[in-house]
Amino acid sequence: MADTELRQRKPQGDDDKPAKKPSAARSKSKADDDDYPPWLDILRVLSFIFVASCGLSYVISGGESFFWGMKNKPNYLRADWWKAQMSGPAYLTLEELSAFDGRDPAKPLYLAINGTIYDVSNGRRMYGPGGSYSVFAGCDAARAYVTGCFAEDRTADMRGVEDMFLPLDDPETDAHWTATEMEKLRAEELEAARDRVHRALTHWVDFFANSKKYHRVGYVKRDKDWLEKLPRRELCAQAQNGRKKRRINEDD
Ligand SMILES: *[C@@H]1O[C@H](CO)[C@@H](O)[C@H](O)[C@H]1NC(C)=O
Repeated sequence: MADTELRQRKPQGDDDKPAKKPSAARSKSKADDDDYPPWLDILRVLSFIFVASCGLSYVISGGESFFWGMKNKPNYLRADWWKAQMSGPAYLTLEELSAFDGRDPAKPLYLAINGTIYDVSNGRRMYGPGGSYSVFAGCDAARAYVTGCFAEDRTADMRGVEDMFLPLDDPETDAHWTATEMEKLRAEELEAARDRVHRALTHWVDFFANSKKYHRVGYVKRDKDWLEKLPRRELCAQAQNGRKKRRINEDD
């Protein structure tokens, strides 16, 4: 019996099973190495990555897809998100922004609120053409978010919106207060109304800022005096119609 054969047999002991012991395995694989093509290893690794990727895609997409084909991909799976992170914020004029209103399916869908631009491509059904919020796409319609007048108020001009939260004058009711009291009351009403506008807009500003579905791409580029150059607007009819007369508090 050859020396090597003895060494191989020895560790197997009484066990009759095929060579599984380290030394035997080592010598076996050494023998196999010659007719074991290296591309087989690469193929194994690639098929492992493929299967793992399918599994990961399935888990991350919540069972939607094996091949990362999700409608609402998380930001880190989106090439355009990474591009936006790398290239820094975009500065678009309102005219440039209007090209991203969704009518060109090759372009992402953008909207702006109070000067900040968001990519809302993940909400194309809502913000795209024919969607119920399509008026917000491709523009900064901050005013419309607060007044609810989608058609008329596609502008970021918030001047005078507080009127919608101010009570209507009514000589009969207002006779309840003296002129001095009325002056003080009006000042309080105005402050409260401005606060309500601010809170209403903040709600939507925060909604987009904190959204996982949409991401910020930049800011609206405007002249410094853009607001002064616009004519003052009337409060839209729907918001105007929601105003009520002053109420006399019985404690007064
Ligand atoms: C809207 O933008 C103006 C100007 O940048 C800023 O002063 C204001 O606080 C913003 N409003 C809200 C509600 O974020």
